Amino acid sequence: MALRNIVLENDGILRKKAREVSEINDKICMILDDMLETMIEKNGVGIAAPQVGILKRMFIVKVEDQLIELINPEIIEIEGIQLEEEGCLSIPGFYGTVERPAYIKIRGLNRNGEEVTYEGTDILAIVLNHEYDHLDGILFTDKASNVREISQDDR
Ligand code: CO
Repeated sequence: MALRNIVLENDGILRKKAREVSEINDKICMILDDMLETMIEKNGVGIAAPQVGILKRMFIVKVEDQLIELINPEIIEIEGIQLEEEGCLSIPGFYGTVERPAYIKIRGLNRNGEEVTYEGTDILAIVLNHEYDHLDGILFTDKASNVREISQDDR
């Protein structure tokens, strides 16, 4: 495994629509391993492939010890709304309040090519929706109100 550089907000790659993964091979698994290592190193709770410069539809979420890897995810159900503050590894130091679904059901493939379905509420729903947005070139700042910079010391 290796750490990868996180692509920052000003890089146009984050604005592109990522492409479906056509074949889950060793290279895809290696990218997922690197994404996980990079996310953990940065204390993130989610990371999408475009954030390491790979325009493929896959992301990783880790919330409260639940690790989710999804390839070619599809949101199949959303319900309700919640308003919480969030940030993004690609926009370090900035936070804003975003309206997200209160409940989300999402389906995709795991690294073995098996179809998997996850349901999330609270922070898990937020992170799943946030990472999914990255695959369509959407950043939280597009949806957020009151985006502001908060130094680490204030949090
Ligand atoms: Co993000």
